[in-house]
Order: sequence, then C-alpha cells, then structure tokens
Amino acid sequence: MSEPSEPSTDSADVPAEAWSGVHRGPLREGEWVRLVDQKGRKHNFELVAGKRFFSNKGHLDHDDMIGRDEGFTLVSSAGGQYLVFRPLLNEFVVSMPRGAAVVYPKDAAQIVALADIYPGARVVEAGAGSGALTCSLLRAVGPWGSVTSYELREEFADVARRNVNQFFSAPEGQTHPAWDLRLGDLKEGLASHGAHQVDRIILDMLDPWNCVDAVAEALVPGGIVCAYVATTTQLSRVVETLRVHGGFTEPQPWESLVRDWHVEGLAVRPGHKMIGHTAFLVTARRMAPGERPPRKTRRPAPGAYGPDYTGPRPSDVPPHDASIAGVDLGEPGDA
Ligand SMILES: C[S@@+](CC[C@H](N)C(=O)[O-])C[C@H]1O[C@@H](n2cnc3c(N)ncnc32)[C@H](O)[C@@H]1O
Repeated sequence: MSEPSEPSTDSADVPAEAWSGVHRGPLREGEWVRLVDQKGRKHNFELVAGKRFFSNKGHLDHDDMIGRDEGFTLVSSAGGQYLVFRPLLNEFVVSMPRGAAVVYPKDAAQIVALADIYPGARVVEAGAGSGALTCSLLRAVGPWGSVTSYELREEFADVARRNVNQFFSAPEGQTHPAWDLRLGDLKEGLASHGAHQVDRIILDMLDPWNCVDAVAEALVPGGIVCAYVATTTQLSRVVETLRVHGGFTEPQPWESLVRDWHVEGLAVRPGHKMIGHTAFLVTARRMAPGERPPRKTRRPAPGAYGPDYTGPRPSDVPPHDASIAGVDLGEPGDA
C-alpha cells in the first residue's frame, strides 16, 4: 500500500466512438469498480460521489476512489484491505444480473477465436439470454460491424439490454451502434437478413438443429455457424443435422477445460479446482450454394449408425447397415 498518487496525466480515456466498454485514466463518478477483499470476495458497484460502501470490515468512501488511477489498495474503516480495479469484461459477465445461463468467458473466448469474429463482421446470435456473449461479439465486431441478437423471452431480452448497455456505458436511450436486439424466434427472423448476407451465426439455444435450414440460407459462402450446447444428446443431434444437410463442411465438435495452477516456491502443481464441463461447441463452414464437401473416405465406426441409432442419417450410410455392425470397418474411436 502506498499514499494515493497523483492521477497519471497521459492516460486520456479510450475514444467513446470505439465502444470498447473500457475506460482509462482516473476513476470517474458513474463508472463501475470491482473491489476484491483479502479473502478474494468480489464486490462490484457504481461510483457515486458522497456514497459509502459497507462491508463486514466497516466502510469505504466512494470519494476516496473517484479521481484515482485504478489499481490501488484501499483500507476500510475497520482495517480491511481492498484491491480496486475497473471490472474486465470476463469479470463483468460472471457477476452481472442473469436471466438465462450465460456463456462463460472461456467459451466466449473460443467462440470469438474459432468462429473467427472480426471487426466489421455481420453476426447473428440466438438467444441473447443475459447478454454475456453479446458483449464479446460486440467487442469483436466493433462499431462498424453488426450483431443481431434474437431472444424469445421478453424478460431475458430486458436483462440482456440492461447488461449490454451497462458494460458499454451507453448513454441514456442509446445502445452500442452495432447492436440490434430483436424479440422473436431466430428461425423466423433469419429470413429478414436476405439470402447469404450473414457472416457468422452463433446458436446458444436448446434446439439448434431446428435452425440449420434457415442458417444455411442466411450464411455467406465460407460463413461459419457455431453452436453451443450443454449435453451429448444435443451435440449428437446438431452435428448429425449439419452433416446430413450437405451444405456445410464436416462439423467440428470440441470442448475446453481450464485448470489453474498453484505456483509457490517448490510447490508447483495443478490447482484443486478447474472449470470443467460447461458446454460443447460445434463449428462448420457454409459451402457455396449447390456445392457439397468431399465424401468422407473413412467409414463410420462399427455400430455408429446401427439399429439403436435413431438420429439424422448421412445419405451415404444405408439404414441399419448390417455390414458395418460389429464388423471391422473404420477405426476404433471414430464414432
Ligand atoms: C442459455 S440462454 C443464452 C445465453 C446467452 N448466450 C448469454 O451468454 O447470456 C438461451 C436463450 O435462448 C433463447 N432461445 C431459445 N430458442 C430460441 C429461438 N429459437 N430464438 C431466439 N431465442 C431463443 C432462450 O429464451 C434463452 O434466453
């Protein structure tokens, strides 16, 4: 801890027209801060001149934070030490109010990278839910792209609107210029985007397989669809539906698990807790209209499409093909 330093003078704020959701320079009234206490507990609140933050360690005055450069330790009236920073996007989304379950930061990062969301992209997503993924998508497309978010439920759309506007510090009555939040069903809304006019479509909903035809119609050739599903049955159904459609490349399913490490002197080991299963991700690219991907030369694993399989069936797999049930065709683990 040190004495409050003079705010740095060379840190002008990030230009408002960048719509980054980030500020630099001294903390200002109306901004959100995130305090972390000595036990790692987090507290997020808006800075209001004259207001006090109360905790089990006494209180802190907002006025002692306003005007300082973030990144300092403040001592409360009862001697508690608090680290003070502006919340990062990944911290904001796990602490913001929720309607529906959110896409976790580890998955949002993967979606932005592997669905290749770029500045200027035209992105459609459903559902908006609590607006967590929307914040990452808007950050990635920037003010010159577009993110159209469909949401079936009005109460969730309201939560998403509040969260997104808070994160991007949208002035009263405004929102991020790239954002269009629409109440309704993605399947019906996609047609309004015109044929092959959307660059990326992200599906975080219960039944993404029911959207595959509409997605194929809306995506540009080379465009990417990315589905985020929680269970293996959903994963199977969305992969097989994309495969059977024929207008997409072979779907790529994966998940990510994140493990912290404990590093302290000679005690260097994996942490006891990890962010394990959250959801599976699937991406596939849209072929040009009328084009099909090459036929797979590798045959399905034995029994993959046997009598117990009831899902969509690729056209080159005959119904209940006895010749591939239990016979050594394909490689183990291919299913
Ligand atoms: C898990 S939540 C989405 C969470 C969101 N991606 C986030 O990060 O905050 C799923 C949402 O999809 C919405 N939904 C389901 N089917 C939909 C559809 N066909 N069109 C639009 N929204 C849909 C649900 O109402 C729900 O709010």
